[in-house]
Amino acid sequence: MNDQVYHVPVLLNEVIEGLSIKPDGIYVDCTFGGGGHAKAILEKLSSNGKLVAFDQDPDAKKNLPAGQAGMQHDERLVFISHNFRHLQRFLKLENITSVDGIMADLGVSSHQFDEAERGFSTRFNAELDMRMDQRQTLTAYEVVNTYTEQKLHKIFEQYGEVTNSKTLAKTIVQIRNVVSLKTVEGFKNALREIVKGNPNKYFAQVFQALRIEVNDELGALKEMLQQIPSLLKPGGRVAIITFHSLEDRLVKNFFRRGSFDEPEENPYINTKPVTELNVITKKPVLPTEKEMKLNPRSRSAKLRIAEKVMIEK
Ligand SMILES: C[S@@+](CC[C@H](N)C(=O)[O-])C[C@H]1O[C@@H](n2cnc3c(N)ncnc32)[C@H](O)[C@@H]1O
Repeated sequence: MNDQVYHVPVLLNEVIEGLSIKPDGIYVDCTFGGGGHAKAILEKLSSNGKLVAFDQDPDAKKNLPAGQAGMQHDERLVFISHNFRHLQRFLKLENITSVDGIMADLGVSSHQFDEAERGFSTRFNAELDMRMDQRQTLTAYEVVNTYTEQKLHKIFEQYGEVTNSKTLAKTIVQIRNVVSLKTVEGFKNALREIVKGNPNKYFAQVFQALRIEVNDELGALKEMLQQIPSLLKPGGRVAIITFHSLEDRLVKNFFRRGSFDEPEENPYINTKPVTELNVITKKPVLPTEKEMKLNPRSRSAKLRIAEKVMIEK
């Protein structure tokens, strides 16, 4: 296991400032990972405060901070090893119906990328897997070897913006009719002939598309966002870091309009939608040049923050 650095938190100070943490409050970190954001939240909480942290990858559990005075874990922290799409359900099991703040730092951790056998990275050979939660059955192998050509085309086009997504889908189907595509290397070699442009960039887009599909990343994000307005207390904050435009668009539209639809294009229709959230960041917060230099994985990060309205509209 390569565990020198599990994950370097992105936009750490910006998230903590944006959440405007109340020391006795209840907070949720939807994506615990290496626990960088979670530990910074805990530092702001008093002994009465509480943090509920989700991560669907059981590996994240090993990053739980130790507790005080011989306690194995920080007693203010509850870890839930499940998908954040079930946010409300698991909070209810903890007798929590409303919270002061919610954050999510979407996507995969550096640990998941750097663990060769997880199959997320184009850099290592491994089985085509890409599951964040290894309890689920759908893997990248299943997607590549069983999805229809049309479905594959749509995934590569929408989730990866792969330039020749139609040719890619067609070629995959032609090849798998002869031999199944089992490994990262086998997959890349089989498709070498049709790569457009820089192969690293090309396969990064292809792998991003597969990863989003395998983990239903957009579906989980939508379900989580829809639970936020009813979970937040008036004045409570939500902070979400996204890493690609598909995620960012969902967050932006939901914060502004309470729905995932694109804004009305007709300039004569200009009614402000009634939403339960006030947008705090009119434009997304981006990492500084310094952060990008120190942590290149922060490059595509965008942070958006919203606040639950004080008085019900
Ligand atoms: C970018 S990392 C978070 C890093 C963390 N903020 C830190 O400071 O170390 C994203 C983490 O969220 C988890 N994750 C992604 N989508 C999830 C989902 N739908 N439900 C639960 N966990 C998820 C991943 O397993 C990964 O560990």
